[in-house]
Amino acid sequence: VYHTPELTSPDGFPDCAVVIDVLRATTTIATALNAGAEAVQAFSDLDRLMQASEAWSPEKRLRAGERGGAKVEGCDLGNSPLDYTPERVRGKRLFISTTNGTRALQRVEQSPLVTAGTIINRHAIVRYLLEKQPETVWLLGSGWEGGYSLEDTVCAGAIAQSLMSQECEGVEIGNDEAIAAIALYHQWKDNLLELFRLASHGQRLLRLGCDEDLQYCAQIDSLDIVPIQKEPGLLVKL
Ligand code: MLT
Repeated sequence: VYHTPELTSPDGFPDCAVVIDVLRATTTIATALNAGAEAVQAFSDLDRLMQASEAWSPEKRLRAGERGGAKVEGCDLGNSPLDYTPERVRGKRLFISTTNGTRALQRVEQSPLVTAGTIINRHAIVRYLLEKQPETVWLLGSGWEGGYSLEDTVCAGAIAQSLMSQECEGVEIGNDEAIAAIALYHQWKDNLLELFRLASHGQRLLRLGCDEDLQYCAQIDSLDIVPIQKEPGLLVKL
């Protein structure tokens, strides 16, 4: 478990990276792919997003931008997963840039396997990891501008705890952060929404009127979808 890609993850890349941004980027990405988006292209830089998406007709693309939790002017959507309905996204390519989640994806895009994990698809992610059996797995919390994230850590703990509880050989805890993440999950697994409302980013989203987002993001194992990276920065449904 690593909390913020730039600060705490070691150099190099794992065999498999599970990028976690529960509030809300990886929840949004999982929701968009589940709703029928053709693919999700992640950008840490908004200018590059606008440039790359020019190659797609307005009918076939959706531009999603978020900074500081709010929608970026000039984008079709912000980063509320509730906005990613089948009617809106089906068959379209989503170009997305968020404050932290898309930067975390970029940090590990050279890994052989990259997936987007969150609370709503935790079980699907665990199943994928058990199928792939990678040698090393990073559960990579996106945090907030380099800061620690309670919600990303509790999600890493939920994934790690499930892996440890499977009757499978050789799953080992990698670092102290993983042990702490599992403990946090044990403490809050029946009150995830309450934890999200306590978390600093949850508070930020509450100030923006996004409590319904927190409710949606707390629905553990509610979507059976695994976003996988097809090429650097491009995520599709497994
Ligand atoms: C992030 O990228 O840090 C979050 O997704 C921001 C948000 O809640 O929109």
